[in-house]
Amino acid sequence: MQAEISSLRAAAENAIGAVTDARGLDEFRVTYLARKGEIAALFDRLKTVPAQDRPAFGKLLNELRAAVQQMHDGKSAALGGTGTPPVPALDLTLPGRRGFIGTKHPLTQTLDEIKAIFVSMGFGVADGPEIEDDYHNFEALNFPPDHPARDMQDTFFLSDRALLRTHTSPVQIRVMEEHQPPLRVIMPGRVYRNEAISARSYCMFHQVEGLCVDKGVTFGDLKGTLIEFITRYYGQGLKFRFRPTFFPFTEPSADIYISCFICGGRGCRLCKQSGWLEILGCGMVDPNVFHAVGYDPEVFTGYAFGMGIDRIAMLRHGIDDIRLFFDNDIRFLNQF
Ligand code: DAH
Repeated sequence: MQAEISSLRAAAENAIGAVTDARGLDEFRVTYLARKGEIAALFDRLKTVPAQDRPAFGKLLNELRAAVQQMHDGKSAALGGTGTPPVPALDLTLPGRRGFIGTKHPLTQTLDEIKAIFVSMGFGVADGPEIEDDYHNFEALNFPPDHPARDMQDTFFLSDRALLRTHTSPVQIRVMEEHQPPLRVIMPGRVYRNEAISARSYCMFHQVEGLCVDKGVTFGDLKGTLIEFITRYYGQGLKFRFRPTFFPFTEPSADIYISCFICGGRGCRLCKQSGWLEILGCGMVDPNVFHAVGYDPEVFTGYAFGMGIDRIAMLRHGIDDIRLFFDNDIRFLNQF
């Protein structure tokens, strides 16, 4: 036992001399001082020593442990460390942690694409208030006083005078009140309707309005511009259908349909087996609208159009519930 104590001390002295860094120092600690180290092993063997010799050997072992601890602490101080175990080496090959990066909302992406196409065709972008008055939302747009759209059932009235705009068409009026022709502008924004909420309709949605006014603007210009837009947005090879309809602020008016881009017109769930998708309303600006803003309809003509962005994004991405856009569920938004 005596000999083993001396040789362990010599070995520890040698070993501490060879330690040059924190990692080596920790190995030293594990070898000699740890609970399963060499010194602990000798303490274990005290049991086998004759009882009368135990105190003496116990004292020697305590001295050995103190001496080795001192070697350790001395080296630790020399290395500038605090004696705490070294940090494991940095593993540069580990895959990094992926940061969370937000994306644009699918409606914003859709609007950005629509805007880019119209801007490239020379349209400007204008904005108007979401809180409107009856005059801009209805009257100046040639809605008769008893038109059903003014009904409480469709319109959110805020007071006798103020309402939430039910479409982006009032921005046409505001733009024309401020500017003289020639005008070529799109007007995106939120609109509100007092409708029962379902997968297909929500109390708030988005539209892009378009307006072009100049001398000699024709229905041919309307067709050319909108077919160019639709082809660039939805792709080549579609069939178009212009169906006559009625809007108070345009005459003549049309709804534009395209052949369903999912089934190619054969009929599917998306187009409700009709083969056609309605994508926007349009028409030639009614002379009464020009009167309201002080333009002379004998001098100027123009076309206007309006489309629902939510619907376009739903068609484009195969989304079957409009409410998903407004739930802010990250599992939905992350897909775009
Ligand atoms: N304002 C119409 C609506 O909300 C959409 C619309 C149709 C706008 C035809 C227009 C247009 O500018 O010419 O249903």
